[in-house]
Amino acid sequence: MSTEGLVARDVFRTFPGPDGGLPVLRGAAIDMLPGEAAAIIGPSGSGKSTFLHLLGALDKPDSGTIRLDGVNPLGLDANGLADYRNRQVGFVFQDHHLLPQLTVLENVLAPAWANGGRATPEVAARARLLLDRVGLTGRLDHFPAQLSGGERQRAAVARSLVLAPRLLLADEPTGNLDSRTASEVGALLLDLGTEKPCRLLVVTHSLELASRFPRVYRMAEGKLVPAGDGISS
Ligand SMILES: Nc1ncnc2c1ncn2[C@@H]1O[C@H](COP(=O)(O)OP(=O)(O)O)[C@@H](O)[C@H]1O
Ligand SMILES: [Mg+2]
Repeated sequence: MSTEGLVARDVFRTFPGPDGGLPVLRGAAIDMLPGEAAAIIGPSGSGKSTFLHLLGALDKPDSGTIRLDGVNPLGLDANGLADYRNRQVGFVFQDHHLLPQLTVLENVLAPAWANGGRATPEVAARARLLLDRVGLTGRLDHFPAQLSGGERQRAAVARSLVLAPRLLLADEPTGNLDSRTASEVGALLLDLGTEKPCRLLVVTHSLELASRFPRVYRMAEGKLVPAGDGISS
């Protein structure tokens, strides 16, 4: 069997609580090859963020299989897990989470500094290239407070990709943006997040954004089901 692929199968996650807890994921599954893109829609509280957290190894499933190009994050030691979260997976959230005391360029380089690391010349070059591609070359020395909301989110997209992850996870990445800026950020995600070896998985409430993805799933009763042609909330 090829080891190339994001494979999640039979993923279950119940959060502790009364009456046996809250079963959020009940057999969620997805398959994605490098270069692919998919969107997930579904009501609030249906488990979309929970699923992304599991794929990004920020949380552990109760049962099920997760493999990213042959790597099982559940089988990694602490160092391997840190590498998986930092290098194999990129995250974009609804809020940009840029560090206010760092410039745009420093924010994009920051993932390379984890665990006392340094930005290699390759990473530094990639940071500048990504910032160019998201249209921020003129803003490298600006601080987040000096940017518009769209510029901040574009910087966050560049940061998420600086270490060339295999999986880009975006959780409502355009939720705080006006529709035109949202459209631009969506286009950047689709463009940059599907360059191999990466693949892109975006959770969104925007049906306009979802409709631009080749595959759209709905989170329903703890499973991902194809949303079909009539995407509707
Ligand atoms: N760490 C947690 N502990 C307990 N309950 C949680 C936790 N994370 C999420 N939940 C609950 O799980 C359900 C799904 O949450 P979430 O995945 O954030 O939904 P969505 O992203 O689709 O809005 C919600 O009812 C939420 O309150
Ligand atoms: Mg969510």
